[in-house]
Amino acid sequence: MKGVLLHGGLGTRLRPLTHTGPKQLIKVAGKPVSQWVLEDFKGAGIDEVAVILGGVAPERVVEYYGDGSALGLKITYIYQGYPYGLAHAVYIARDYVGDEEFVVYLGDNLILEGIKKFVEKFSDSDADAMILLAEVEDPRRFGVAKFDSSGRLVGLVEKPKEPPSKYALVGVYFFRGQGVFKVIEKLRPSWRGELEITDALQGMLEAGFKVDYGIIGGWWKDTGTPKDILEANRLLLDQKVREALIEGNVEDSSVEGRVIVEENSVIRNSVIRGPAFIGSGSIVENSYIGPYTSIGINCRIQGVEIENSVLMDNVTITSLDYRLVDSIIGSGGVIRKNSNRPRGLRLFLGEMGVVEL
Ligand code: TTP
Repeated sequence: MKGVLLHGGLGTRLRPLTHTGPKQLIKVAGKPVSQWVLEDFKGAGIDEVAVILGGVAPERVVEYYGDGSALGLKITYIYQGYPYGLAHAVYIARDYVGDEEFVVYLGDNLILEGIKKFVEKFSDSDADAMILLAEVEDPRRFGVAKFDSSGRLVGLVEKPKEPPSKYALVGVYFFRGQGVFKVIEKLRPSWRGELEITDALQGMLEAGFKVDYGIIGGWWKDTGTPKDILEANRLLLDQKVREALIEGNVEDSSVEGRVIVEENSVIRNSVIRGPAFIGSGSIVENSYIGPYTSIGINCRIQGVEIENSVLMDNVTITSLDYRLVDSIIGSGGVIRKNSNRPRGLRLFLGEMGVVEL
């Protein structure tokens, strides 16, 4: 089975972080969201993956993953550019997948239990497609499955006012054969101008193709908004950091709980409370790093209290009077105290930046 990872889209809900790079490269618990996905492919025995690139700094994706060998994968890049929709992104992988079975995974989706058992289920079945579903509180925000009385999937409805079930579509789709491509060829763009994957699946059902489903038991997360990024970071730190791993230098500090401190980093005169992640080459001095904080590589944190936050790479934060909470700071961001008089707030913020004081 081959993998297709969707790494395009505009990521408008995550601006300004996505002005300079794709949202799937935002690091949570120390790794880009799409790396968690690629590792899930690998863990499920899928070694060949096509990465669909969008128009926002696609070269950064190629630079980061290269040919995939560092992850034990063989990666092929396919350029989509403008996001014409998930079904369009699937369609342009047609030559790549050929006659093989394949699984499409949205590069901003995280699934705790992974896809291995669903890969096995699909391999053992004769279905033309398989979707993953998860029970949700408010299905009205999702694509929702409709079943007949015997539990067979009979339809999919996008953001229904009156949901036919509580089961929402998760961002992983399995296909075999050319059926899906034939259906996509006949699709018309939706009201938002995209070729929708729900329309493709609905089209397959209507054309008589067999579409099976698997149900996800644990959590899954679509990391489309800043709130989702913080929540994904919390969930991953909780579930994936199972024990402390201290590779950097810890001096005169207290490091409690499940904390990863990567090599070449220095923790001096500070308190770190896990679960937390501190990337390689970062320096933390005279600071408190509270639970559910991920700090990227080569950051400098001095005289600061931080909790439940995500700092990308090369961030500098020094001498704050405030405790930083629930924050996301993009790469190279600087927050420092201005001790000159008259004291004022001097901001140099990117488009759509948010400051709450
Ligand atoms: P979305 O989150 O629906 O799209 P987006 O990235 O444009 O987000 P926003 O609404 O904030 O602007 O896309 C789901 C996933 O699929 C995401 O990983 C991006 C990817 N994608 C593509 O690769 N190609 C596409 O044409 C589209 C629409 C999305």
